[in-house]
Amino acid sequence: MDMNPSPDNRSYRPWKTLANILLPSVLLFIYYLVVMPGEQGHVRKLPVVMALLNAISSGLLIGAFLNIRKKRIETHKKLNLMALTTSVMFLTSYVVYHYFQVEPVRYTGDFRTLYFFILLTHIPLAVTIVPLAVVTAIRGLGGKFEKHRRIAKITLPLWLYVSVTGVIIYFMVNF
Ligand code: HEM
Repeated sequence: MDMNPSPDNRSYRPWKTLANILLPSVLLFIYYLVVMPGEQGHVRKLPVVMALLNAISSGLLIGAFLNIRKKRIETHKKLNLMALTTSVMFLTSYVVYHYFQVEPVRYTGDFRTLYFFILLTHIPLAVTIVPLAVVTAIRGLGGKFEKHRRIAKITLPLWLYVSVTGVIIYFMVNF
């Protein structure tokens, strides 16, 4: 297993990687803001899309972890880059949802303490995960695997927590 990428490592094309990650979000953004402008009925349905994107991110992150445990670097890389893509798509949807200022959803269930614990840990960690995920990916793509591994051990559990609690919050609020 060669973990030492040579300078001509063909799989590391930063701009292509960046475009692959951002393009789905740009298309989503255009769809949300140009194709269906003012249709707040559609925007109201965005939480289910956001919960789905979080669930997909969680699955991809778990898959990526299981693959690196089996030393399958290429699959680990692809699954993580896909997780990055679905998380960026989630962020796009989140921004659009709040841009339209759909009224805030209130939790009316019996588990208020649990709900607020999840919410108040989810929000700051969701913000923290953005730079962490970017730095982790850059170190992985750049072949700095020792440093990558060190930060990834923090990034992965936090990212998973944020994605899974995103789904839990959706279910707690809507069911
Ligand atoms: C941002 C997304 C990523 C996350 C969250 C992530 C997560 C992880 C984690 C948790 C480990 C440690 C596994 C363990 O030792 O138990 C790891 C190792 C590794 N990752 Fe990533 N990874 C990401 C992106 C990448 C990318 C893009 C590459 C590019 C090839 C990569 C290549 C590797 C390699 C080679 C190892 C093994 C390093 C070693 O054992 O020294 N990862 N990653």
